[in-house]
Amino acid sequence: MSHHVYFLGAGPGDPELLTRRAERLLGECQVVYLPPLYDQTFAELLEGKELFVPFEFYFADLIKLVKEQLVNGPVAFLVPGDLTFYSPFQAVVDALDDLAVVVPGVGSVNAASALLKKTLDLPGVCSRAILASPRTLGNGPDAPTMGDLASPGVSLLIYMNNIPLPELVAQLRKGYGKDIPIALAHRVGLPDEEIIVATLDTIVTKVGDRDFFNLESTNPRPALTLLLVGESLTADADPTWWDYRRDHIWKHQDNS
Ligand SMILES: C[S@@+](CC[C@H](N)C(=O)[O-])C[C@H]1O[C@@H](n2cnc3c(N)ncnc32)[C@H](O)[C@@H]1O
Repeated sequence: MSHHVYFLGAGPGDPELLTRRAERLLGECQVVYLPPLYDQTFAELLEGKELFVPFEFYFADLIKLVKEQLVNGPVAFLVPGDLTFYSPFQAVVDALDDLAVVVPGVGSVNAASALLKKTLDLPGVCSRAILASPRTLGNGPDAPTMGDLASPGVSLLIYMNNIPLPELVAQLRKGYGKDIPIALAHRVGLPDEEIIVATLDTIVTKVGDRDFFNLESTNPRPALTLLLVGESLTADADPTWWDYRRDHIWKHQDNS
């Protein structure tokens, strides 16, 4: 029997947010690749396993080692959040081809939305969401800015921010053309998680001199901080939609 390499959506850090499938497959793997941090939060589920930090290897060496380890049994990679957005593991998945199996998980944006108890789209308030990171927008003269992505009706979900907050907020204020809600979700799913809800006009003062994005640190790794911007963050849903749906959708359901 040939074994597989499981890329398990590990969620933002809290093992309680693992899917049952991911937990079962992790239990079957003796060899686990994981970014630092997960070795602490997932300690109980990792007991007795052989742990590796994937980023310590050059690509070809990593693929070679994983293939050697596969001879003895399945191998797991813990993928922060999951593979859907900003995952560093795509090249590894591609190189392993049929040997790779991807298991979905809870993204940091899902966990932040749950903390806020807010859906990120809302009829009549936010009609679309844009996920972006200023790190990956590019630097060329035609590269879009965060301000270009901001416009009324858009929920903007900003990963791996590397722009000083006052500058970022000024760009967003221009794009939205008005003051709107913003939430800073820091280390969601970890014991010291923190969420700051403010508006574009108040967030800078509210955050003060705290460096939530590691911009003053020599550590080049992106901070575990997600920004969510949009009017659905503080809007109340219109309950008349409930009855509208009941009359126009569910009443006609034939239960087939
Ligand atoms: C390389 S991306 C990985 C995203 C991951 N695939 C996901 O779906 O959550 C890293 C960025 O995701 C966000 N992030 C990841 N984990 C987080 C957490 N626990 N709390 C807040 N933001 C987090 C931050 O913006 C961080 O800079």
